[in-house]
Amino acid sequence: MATAQKEAWGTRVGLILAMAGNAVGLGNFLRFPVQAVNNGGGAFIIPYLVCFLLMGIPLLWIEWSSGRFGGRFGNHSTPFILDNMTKRAFWKYFGVFGIFTNIAVAGYYCYIESWTMSYVWHSLRGTFDGLSQTQVAQFFADYVDIGKSHTGIPYEAVVFYVLCLGLNTFILSRGLRGVERAAQIGMPLLILFGVFLALRGITLGTSGASAEVPDANAWDGINFLWTPQFDSLSNPKVWLAAAGQIFFTLSVGMGSIHCYAAYVRSKDDIALNAVTSGFTNEFVEVVLGSLIVIPIAAGYLGLDWVKENAGFGMAFQTMPFLFEKWGPLLSAVAGVMWFGLLFFAGITSSLAMGTPWMGFMRDEFGWGRVKGAVSFGLIVLMLGLPTVLFFEHGVFDEYDYWAGTVGLVVFALAETILFAWIWGIDKGWKELNSGADMKVPEVYRFIIKYVTPVLLLFVFIGSLVTPEGNDWQGALASLFSGGGWPLDDSSIVMTIGNSGINKQIAAATEPAQLEALTDRKFFVNMARILLTITFMSLAVLVYIAGQRRARQQKAHT
Ligand code: ALA
Repeated sequence: MATAQKEAWGTRVGLILAMAGNAVGLGNFLRFPVQAVNNGGGAFIIPYLVCFLLMGIPLLWIEWSSGRFGGRFGNHSTPFILDNMTKRAFWKYFGVFGIFTNIAVAGYYCYIESWTMSYVWHSLRGTFDGLSQTQVAQFFADYVDIGKSHTGIPYEAVVFYVLCLGLNTFILSRGLRGVERAAQIGMPLLILFGVFLALRGITLGTSGASAEVPDANAWDGINFLWTPQFDSLSNPKVWLAAAGQIFFTLSVGMGSIHCYAAYVRSKDDIALNAVTSGFTNEFVEVVLGSLIVIPIAAGYLGLDWVKENAGFGMAFQTMPFLFEKWGPLLSAVAGVMWFGLLFFAGITSSLAMGTPWMGFMRDEFGWGRVKGAVSFGLIVLMLGLPTVLFFEHGVFDEYDYWAGTVGLVVFALAETILFAWIWGIDKGWKELNSGADMKVPEVYRFIIKYVTPVLLLFVFIGSLVTPEGNDWQGALASLFSGGGWPLDDSSIVMTIGNSGINKQIAAATEPAQLEALTDRKFFVNMARILLTITFMSLAVLVYIAGQRRARQQKAHT
C-alpha cells in the first residue's frame, strides 16, 4: 500500500540532470545517426523535429504531470499512477508496461553499456594499437561470439555484463541520491567529451584525412545530415522512423519519467523542467550526436562507405580503428572519451530503468532500497543474459523490437488517451500549470488533446499494418479495388506470425543456412516467451497489490 513518500530530489539542478541523463543515452549517439543515415540524412530531420514538437514535448508534459500527481498520493510507478487518474481498474494493468518496458529494455541496453565499459578498458590498454580495420571489426565479432573471446578474459562479454549490472545495482541501492550523483558526474563529462570529439569531427575536413579514400571529407557527412529534403515529408516510413527515434531518445512511453517525476515535490515546477530536459536531450542528440560518428567515418572512409555500412556496430567496429590515425596518445584519449561518453550516456539511462520497479515494490510491498535494487539487478540478469549468450541469434533484436519499439508506442498512446480524454485535459492542464515557472503555450492544450493522440494512432496503425514495400498509395489502391491490404513483413501483424523468417526458411538452399535460420526462429520465439512471462508476472504482482490495497481500505472504513 502506498505510503507518504519521504524520498525526493535533492536539488533542481540534480533533478534536471537526472531527467536529462535518463533521456540522453546510447540512442543519441548510436541510434540517431544510423536512423538519420538510413532515412535519407536531411530527409529525416524535418519529420524528426515535427515529431519532437507534436509528440515528444506533449508526452514529456503528460508524463511529468501524471508522475507528480501520482507521487502526491504516494505512487511511484505507472500501475497506480494511472490508477489514480481513473476509476477503471484495468488501467493499472496498462501501467504494467511502465515497469515491464524498463526491465526488458535494461536487459539488452545494459549489454551495450557493458561493451562501452570494456572498450574503455581496451582503449587504455592499447588493445587496438596497430590493428587493421578488418581486425578491429573482427575483435567486435569475436567479443559478441561469447565462446570465441580473444581478449584475454574468458567469457569477457558475460563478465563485463555482470560488472555493469553490479554497478547499476550498487548505485540504485543508494536511492535517488545515488542516481542524482551519477548524473551530476556523468552529464558534464559526457558533454565535455562530446564537444571535444565533435570539434574533431568538424575540423577533420579533407586535408589528407585519408590515404585510402583521398576525396573523403568529414563535411560530406555533416552536409548529408543537415541539408533538408522536403520530399521525405510524404514518406510514411521516414515518419515512423522519426517518431520511433523520438520515443526512444526522450524515454517517453517507458514509465521512467513518471517515476522520476513522482519524486518532485507537489509545489515544484514541472513544465519548465520537462522542456529543459527535453531540449538538453535534443541538443546532445542533434548537435553532438550528428557531429561525431558520421563525420569522422565520412572523413576517412567516405560518405558512400557510411551509407552502406551505417549500423549499430559502426561505433564499435570502426571508431577504434579511425582513432588510431590520430597517433598513440590521442587515439587512447579519444577512445576513452568516446566509449566513456557512451558509458555515461548509458548508465544515466539504465539507472532510470531501475527506479519504476523499485518504486513499485517499495510502495506496494514495503521493500527497501537495497532489496529493490538487488532484485532489479537479478531480474535484469535473468532476462538479459539470453541477449548476451544468444546475441547472434536475434534475441537482442527481438527485445528491442517488442519492448524498445512497439511497447513505447502502445503505452504512449494509452497514456495520452487517459490523460487528455479520460482524466480530462482540464485536470491535466491544471496539473501541468500548477507551480509552473513558464507560461505553457495555450496551443499545446489543443495539441495534447487532439494532435498528439491522432499522430500516435497513425504511428501505431502504421506500424501494425505497414503495407508491403511501404507503398501506402499502392496498398490503398489495392484495398479500394477489392485486392485487400498487402502487409509488409516488417508490420507488427506479420512479425507476430514470423512471416519474414518463415519465408527465408522456405527459400533457404544450403543446409547450414537452413540450420541458422531455424535456430534464429527458435530463439526469437523463446525471447517472446520470456518477455511474455515477465509481463504476466508483473501483472500478477499488480493484481496482488490491488487486492492488498482493497483489503487495507476496507479495514480503514
Ligand atoms: N533515452 C535513452 C536513450 O536514448 C533510452 O538511449
